[in-house]
Amino acid sequence: MDGQLIGQGRACPPQRAYISTTMHLHAQHVRFTASHLPCVPVLHLHHVLHARMSSGALLSAMDMGMGMGMDWLFVLQLLMSAVCLLVLLLRYRAVKPEKTRRRRYPGLTQWPIVGVIPAIVSNIHRIFEGVTGMLALSGLNYQCRFWFAGFRYFITCDPANVRHIFTSNFENYPKGDVFAQMFDILGGGIFNSDGERWRSQRTKAQMLMTTPRYRAFVAQSSLDKVEQSVLPFLAHAADSDTTCDLQDVFTRWSFDTTCNLVFGVDPGCLAIGLPDVPFARAMDDVLRTVFVRHIMPVTCWKVMRRLDVGHERKNAAARRTADEFVAATIASRRAAYNKQGADKSAADLLSSFICDEEIAGDPDADVYIRDMTMNLLVAGRDATSSALSWFSYLIATNPRVEKKLLEELAPIAARRPVGPDGMVAFEAGELKNLLYLHAAVCECLRLYPSLPVETKAVAAHDVLPSGHEVRPGDKILVFNYSMGRMKRVWGADCREFRPERWISEDGKLRYVPSNKFVAFNSGPRTCLGKEMVLVQMKVTVAAVAWNFAVEVVPGHVVEPKLSIILHMKNGLLVRVKRRSGNPAMIGKQ
Ligand code: HEM
Repeated sequence: MDGQLIGQGRACPPQRAYISTTMHLHAQHVRFTASHLPCVPVLHLHHVLHARMSSGALLSAMDMGMGMGMDWLFVLQLLMSAVCLLVLLLRYRAVKPEKTRRRRYPGLTQWPIVGVIPAIVSNIHRIFEGVTGMLALSGLNYQCRFWFAGFRYFITCDPANVRHIFTSNFENYPKGDVFAQMFDILGGGIFNSDGERWRSQRTKAQMLMTTPRYRAFVAQSSLDKVEQSVLPFLAHAADSDTTCDLQDVFTRWSFDTTCNLVFGVDPGCLAIGLPDVPFARAMDDVLRTVFVRHIMPVTCWKVMRRLDVGHERKNAAARRTADEFVAATIASRRAAYNKQGADKSAADLLSSFICDEEIAGDPDADVYIRDMTMNLLVAGRDATSSALSWFSYLIATNPRVEKKLLEELAPIAARRPVGPDGMVAFEAGELKNLLYLHAAVCECLRLYPSLPVETKAVAAHDVLPSGHEVRPGDKILVFNYSMGRMKRVWGADCREFRPERWISEDGKLRYVPSNKFVAFNSGPRTCLGKEMVLVQMKVTVAAVAWNFAVEVVPGHVVEPKLSIILHMKNGLLVRVKRRSGNPAMIGKQ
């Protein structure tokens, strides 16, 4: 029966003969179905190999290899067959009946010697959910050590461990050299630094980002961007009744907005017609490579980088594009400063860095500024666009939450001037105290933290609150994505989008410690852009929700992308419709 399934429409007659003579060996253990089968070429190669070996061709090929040169085709087939056997073995594991399978964790199978590495490789497309399932079953922590390649990981989403690693014993858990090598795009910037270099950069950035002038600049530029780009773009999409990729819209929005805040320049990516943005594409490639580097033994990706192959090749080209953009922007701003002096009206961070006397005294001032601005740009562009995309998705698929949000906005909208196109935008100050809006944004980031995984090194031997021991050389992966999906941390309804969990019985915002709500990190390295991003997000989502009904295109699959930032793999394809009348009356008419 199994042989018939294999043959149906898939294998040629000689293959079927081969299959029928060999498959009984496996039949006791494996119930094959058509969908479980390795592809036909695999079987074909086994057939060839089988035939050659039985006819003594293997020996003659070896003789030829030693004597007058290799039968390269045959050697190639041997090699490919080895690979195919491995694939077959992996498939075999995957299709073994549940009761005979020794899978301890859903999605990630433990193998002798190599542990979860093959499982990680074969589950790479759903790694976040795979690890989440594993952590749920293993009590929030999982340690994997392999005797080769220095591959020692401690994976956690345990709030007690997070507090210990990020706060109580902070000095023992630096980012580490490997982190800096993986994120080479960030140079020696704040994300990549430890110790004194990190501390001094953090102090400088914090000082500049918390001035009332900078805050006012953030609030005003957020509103301007919404009124001048986001609303007109969506109105155009609604009026022309076309689908649009909201993730792309928000990536462009946040690239423009962050460039403006960091460099004082709006590149206009979110223009109708959606111009091509090589820098944005380059950053996607770079971050994807960084993610692959996280889950690959260091030696492997370093060899690939040296050989300039695979992701590493793409990464090198992307880095050149990104570096050229930043270098050109700094050079033109410095030239303007040298010519005309400080522009008193400019509140962007690059202008502040260039005018800063302490930085100016540094012989490597331009490298410092390059690293700092690149770090802020990466932080702003990708994390914020991810958050906005997931928020839009959650609102579009949760009409109950959408309705409550609109009801909360209604009294403010009634006081706001209506724009020329009949649309309303909200000022940051008006939204600041809206409880439900704040709760919905936090709830979105709980379920979809823009940085799904964080990495830490271990400086000295330590015992974590969970009782696990870690030692120098270990790598710690904190799965922020999994933390929000743990029943033990957030309760039985942890996978539900429920802003109400953030609101106490007496109608106030519930305090949630940052070792449990990890989206903005915890401890001394808490995100420096948190306040700023809350302003940007609220101004944007409030205006979009009030003016447009967003509907995800039926059949469109929304799932996380394999990247260091939690983007959507297929984007967010939606259809937007202008709202008519009072949006807060939805469902009441
Ligand atoms: C929704 C948006 C954002 C989220 C979820 C977020 C989250 C985070 C997280 C998790 C970290 C820790 C990263 C690590 O240690 O590896 C971090 C650090 C940081 N974030 Fe954000 N971020 C967001 C937006 C921003 C923005 C817009 C800026 C400013 C432009 C910013 C500036 C920073 C900086 C400077 C750090 C480094 C802090 C340090 O190492 O001391 N972030 N952020």
